[in-house]
Amino acid sequence: MGAMAWNERMSMEFIIAESAEDMGRRAADRIASFVEADPACVLGLATGTTPIGLYADLVADFKAGKLSFAEVTTFNLDEYRGLAPEHDQSYRYFMKKHLFDHIDIDQARTHVPEGANPDADAVCAAYEQAIAEAGGIDLQLLGLGPNGHIGFNEPEDTFPKATHCVDLTESTIQANSRLFDSIDDVPRQAYTMGIGTIMAARSVLVVVEGAHKAEIVKKAFFGPVTPEVPASILQFHPNATVIVDPAAGELCRDLA
Ligand code: F6R
Repeated sequence: MGAMAWNERMSMEFIIAESAEDMGRRAADRIASFVEADPACVLGLATGTTPIGLYADLVADFKAGKLSFAEVTTFNLDEYRGLAPEHDQSYRYFMKKHLFDHIDIDQARTHVPEGANPDADAVCAAYEQAIAEAGGIDLQLLGLGPNGHIGFNEPEDTFPKATHCVDLTESTIQANSRLFDSIDDVPRQAYTMGIGTIMAARSVLVVVEGAHKAEIVKKAFFGPVTPEVPASILQFHPNATVIVDPAAGELCRDLA
């Protein structure tokens, strides 16, 4: 048998949606189809601006009686180290505000790294163990950072494997400072799933919007695979879907 070109083996699906709303709807439909197929599935979730619309779509589906999350288990990608769940910039708070408090999920089955616990080793080991005990993640939702990060896996020399504690880069602190009263209030560290944790998910779904991400979308999904662009490793995932809005997909029209 002749050697197959890498492109023929690549299974990444790259979709340029018609609008940001269409991107959200398509991603919500993808998540809903997992929940319908297996009501007790394990979802990996993300925070950030990009998934807000798709969470609203999922809430609408639930309220319309089309979807139940009663048996679903979730694991969020990351949490700021040092923020209690009640802090309005914690990722636990975000998830409750945009999703958990509006659906029938059992909150005991929703997991976010324990930001308030300063014992990084204990928090990270417990998180990996909880994911393993749940049977692994069926579908991991991801956003894309302007520097190519996924979760809080920042550009580095290597791909970090398991859940770990990271020092946030200056660019991420800057990007996130819009959500805090002042840049000094932005935590300097976070707990995040590692690249290995993310790659172990059976499927991944990436959503990206905005012209400011156009360059990084091209690099991450059509450029070389390198830890300098952490999301680029997703090109090697056997079951990855990327859905971008027209602005974020602008430089990939001839590549997709
Ligand atoms: C969020 C996360 C981050 C974001 C990324 C994009 O849990 O892990 O990697 O997905 O920073 O954020 P937005 O959507 O705000 O551009």
